[in-house]
Amino acid sequence: MARPVAGVLAKAAAVVLLLVLCMARRSSSVGINWGTQLSHSLPTSTAVRLLKDNGFDKVKLFDAEDGILGALKGSGIQVMVGIPNDMLADLAGSSKAAEQWVKANVSGHVNDGVDIRFVAVGNEPFLKTFNGTYLNTTLPAMQSVQAALAKAGLGGKVKVTVALNADVYQSSSGLPSDGDFRDDIRGLMLDIVRFLASSGAPFVANVYPFISLYLDPHFPLDYAFFQGSSTPVVDGGVMYENTFDANHDTLVAALRRNGFPDVPVVIGEVGWPTDGDEHANPEYAQRFNQGLMDHIASGKGTPLRPGIPVDAYLFSLVDEDQKSIQPGNFERHWGVFYYDGQPKYPLSLRGDGGAGTLVPAKGVEYLKQRWCVLKRDADLTEQKVGDSVSYACGQADCTSLGYKTSCGGLDTRGNVSYAFNSYYQSNDQDDLACNFDGLATTTTVNPSAGTCRFIIEIVPTGTAASRNVAGGLATVLAAVLLALLVNSGP
Ligand SMILES: *[C@@H]1O[C@H](CO)[C@@H](O)[C@H](O)[C@H]1NC(C)=O
Ligand SMILES: *[C@@H]1O[C@H](CO)[C@@H](O)[C@H](O)[C@H]1NC(C)=O
Ligand SMILES: *[C@@H]1O[C@H](CO)[C@@H](O)[C@H](O)[C@H]1NC(C)=O
Ligand SMILES: *[C@@H]1O[C@H](CO)[C@@H](O)[C@H](O)[C@H]1NC(C)=O
Repeated sequence: MARPVAGVLAKAAAVVLLLVLCMARRSSSVGINWGTQLSHSLPTSTAVRLLKDNGFDKVKLFDAEDGILGALKGSGIQVMVGIPNDMLADLAGSSKAAEQWVKANVSGHVNDGVDIRFVAVGNEPFLKTFNGTYLNTTLPAMQSVQAALAKAGLGGKVKVTVALNADVYQSSSGLPSDGDFRDDIRGLMLDIVRFLASSGAPFVANVYPFISLYLDPHFPLDYAFFQGSSTPVVDGGVMYENTFDANHDTLVAALRRNGFPDVPVVIGEVGWPTDGDEHANPEYAQRFNQGLMDHIASGKGTPLRPGIPVDAYLFSLVDEDQKSIQPGNFERHWGVFYYDGQPKYPLSLRGDGGAGTLVPAKGVEYLKQRWCVLKRDADLTEQKVGDSVSYACGQADCTSLGYKTSCGGLDTRGNVSYAFNSYYQSNDQDDLACNFDGLATTTTVNPSAGTCRFIIEIVPTGTAASRNVAGGLATVLAAVLLALLVNSGP
């Protein structure tokens, strides 16, 4: 009797396990971009742990840095590596260069157990601000990298694509169903799509509802999010209630119109910044990103691709204090986490409407609890105050100052202190970086107030690593001493 019961139980358990595995698999398919333009980066092993603890199972890189790929070894995280635009000409012109790139940046890592699935050749190379610089080299570079991958025996495993800005497609009427590729590059886009279709690689597009709102003061705010809109776009029998789906389907329509209805679409970057603009704050970022996570987890897809879950990489993992602010001050605040791996707001990747929360980075080492501020008796009317602030903000990061930003409520003295501290922290709390012609002094009292955070930087990666080695040595020595003591006992 016992046996059949056990058999039935085992079968039931197997079914449950399978169900759980299927659910886990579907709900966890969320990627994230890992950018590295920071003055102080988390140690790569800490960042990989952060990805894993939070259930990100895909990561997109802008480069192919050894340290990062090494840390991803054996992590089970799928990787899209990137090739910067300034390498495209070389790769396009020389199959040898492409073979060397693949050898140095893919083959070895794959053999080591890094799960590289895609190479993104170029990052938004057809942006109008590049004036056509990469129009002639992007596709040839993609072809040479693909040939090099095939030669290295990786043709089946690693696919070649390109991360494109969303303005390579558009709709003349504004309706998604009228989507087509941009007139000036239509022929080129068709060649690229043909290339992707022939290898089964995805079309990767970066989609930014925040930028639509930033550039157009009349953009309907609720249409940027996923909770319904008072001004939906009615397209034939379909009603679009958020700009993300409309944008996604404009691309799907462009692919269909040109005879490629089945090319997979991957959103290479999507997200919402938390500072540096009146619409960039944790509340909106939480609303947008949670809406997106729920959309992905629902598996519903978009009106033109129903039932095919949206496939996307969030932008981005952590804030990057050295990104160019030419697009706007928000550019340094895209992180789901702050620079130190602390979550900014609750976010659940599981599609449960935000009940879950993010797990912070573990074991982060900070510099001392010390800040640099304007001296109490400093005279604000002195010319050198303005000069010092300009210098500090030019070198460090003052993008949290200004209208409707996290530190927008500071008075003039607070502004000056903020700038001084930013510079001081970015220089690893060097005493020489808290002088400013005698205007500045250090304090152990945290000047942060309300939403305005006067940060303490993290220990620079090199230092942290050597300290860990030193710590490890000390532990070993202590253990040896202890063993000697114990052994010499009675
Ligand atoms: C490998 O990639 C890195 C980072 O992009 C780059 O600096 C290096 O030149 C590449 N190696 C080769 C041989 O192309
Ligand atoms: C593109 O052209 C504009 C105007 O001619 C120029 O200001 C800008 O520097 C150019 N950008 C690049 C990346 O070449
Ligand atoms: C791209 O090629 C076209 C046609 O050969 C040429 O006219 C154009 O100057 C090239 N553009 C660049 C940026 O090299
Ligand atoms: C503080 O600095 C920001 C950015 O430079 C500026 O916009 C703002 O007016 C300043 N506030 C005061 C009170 O000085």
